Parts: sequence; C-alpha cells; structure tokens
Amino acid sequence: MNEIIKNFAVLGHPISHSLSPKIHQHFADQFKMKINYQRLDIESGNFKEALTNLKLKGYMGLNITLPLKTLAYEACDELSATAKLTKSVNTISIRNDKLVGDTTDGIGLITDLSAKDVRLENKKILLIGAGGASNGVMYDLISQHPQSIFLTNRTISKSHDMKEYWASFARKKNVLIHILNSDEHITFDLIINATSSSLDGESAVLPENLSGYFWYDMMYGKQTHFLKEAERNKATFSDGLGMLVEQAAASFYIWHNRKPDTKSIYQVL
Ligand code: ATR
Repeated sequence: MNEIIKNFAVLGHPISHSLSPKIHQHFADQFKMKINYQRLDIESGNFKEALTNLKLKGYMGLNITLPLKTLAYEACDELSATAKLTKSVNTISIRNDKLVGDTTDGIGLITDLSAKDVRLENKKILLIGAGGASNGVMYDLISQHPQSIFLTNRTISKSHDMKEYWASFARKKNVLIHILNSDEHITFDLIINATSSSLDGESAVLPENLSGYFWYDMMYGKQTHFLKEAERNKATFSDGLGMLVEQAAASFYIWHNRKPDTKSIYQVL
C-alpha cells in the first residue's frame, strides 16, 4: 500500500535561508516517516490567502517565522495557553479544517539552555529587547521560576509596557520583573539578546558595563556584536542555533507526537 506523504511548510519573508526543511526532514528520517516540507516566501499582505490555499491543499502543519508570527496568532481558530499570552504563533496544526496555533520558541530556548547546563530556577536573568522575539519567550522563562527577570530595550518605554503586560503571570509564579537601571551594577546568571539588531546588520545598542556568567544570543550564524561583548567579558556564550533546532523538535512533537533526537542534526547543518 502506498504511504500518504504529509505536507508541511515554513512561511515567512525572507525565507530562502530557512533551515527548517532540513531539520524536519532529518527528524522525519529518524522515524522512517515520509514528509514533504517546503519553504514558502509569503509577505504579510498575502498571508491570509496563503493560509486558505494551504488548508485547501490538505497541508497538515505550518511553521511561521518573521514577520508573520503575530498575524498567525490573529488568524488561528484555537490557541495554546502559551500562544495566547505571548500573542505569537510559530506552529500551526491544521485539524478538521481548523487552524490550531502554538508557539515553541520559548520551550526551544529553555531546552537549549538546559542542554548547555544553564539552570534558571532562582537565577537572575537579563532580557534585552522588547519586541516579538523577546515577548515570545517570556511565558516559558517565567515558568522556569527564575528569581527575577530584568528587562531593557533601546526604546525603554517598551520595556515598561512589557513589564506591565507580564506582571500578573509573573506574580502567579513568584517571579520579580524589573527594568534595568543604568546605574545599577548587577552580575546576571544569564543575559539573553532578543533584539533584531544583527538581522538589520546593525550593532546592538547594549546597556553599558554588562556583566553575566552566560550570554545567549537568540540569533544564529553570525558573530554578533553581543557575542563579541560576551567574549570580551570572558563569559561563556552561545548563539541561537540550538534554540532553532529545539523549537523545531517541539513543533515536530506537536504534529507527529514523537520526540526526535536533536544531537545528530548539528553535523547535517
Ligand atoms: P522581533 O520580532 O525580532 O523581536 P521587533 O518586534 O521589530 O522584532 O523588535 C525588535 C527589537 O530589537 C526591539 O526591541 C528593538 O528595539 P527598539 O524597540 O528600540 O526598536 C530591538 N533592536 C533592533 N535593532 C536594535 C539595535 N541596533 N540595538 C538594540 N536594539 C535593537
């Protein structure tokens, strides 16, 4: 009997450098599953129409990347608790003609940090940036029960908005949220760069005299200004390739109910 090949895709703009097809294909091979996973270059204005077409064509799952994650959140019929609170969707499952949205970016970050032996419970974290990427990981960061999360951003008013937005969830989990004060000198357990500065080819505007044990840049594939700063500080650091792999593994689990091995993918990439 012929096996039905299931269709998946990653949607975004630009999309040509996305590693998602390679990663998902590698995961599917581990279970001898046949999948077809495509890259689709979709701009914001064409997103709704693209979703309708892909639904009609019987696609089973979609990954959503920049700049479409908020639009995907708005377009879904049902949302996970994480997607609801982060207002971001990177994984859509198409079930019974319904779009079910989830976000695995936060769990991808946490899983990668844990693989690198970075524990968050009772720790002090600094999160730089106040856009979609930064808000997108707040649910999972808070859920790990750090002692405190300090926020900072080039446009500081956005950090204040972010603090207010996450206050009630953080209170429930007994986590303190602060705005980084420029004259405070704190050594953080973990500093995360969630700005899009390296995407725009710019150097990140960072707070002065940063100090931390572990520095994590959510971007990958570039020696960013942030990572150079980490090196200058003689700190341990990582780019976000592991986060990309782990968010893909979490999407794969949502669609196929199977946990792929993520260690072997790095040779392929
Ligand atoms: P994303 O979804 O990738 O987070 P976004 O919502 O546009 O994209 O947010 C981009 C974030 O990166 C913002 O926090 C932005 O700071 P501003 O709010 O001041 O614009 C931050 N950012 C972009 N370029 C930056 C730079 N060169 N230095 C520091 N922060 C930067």
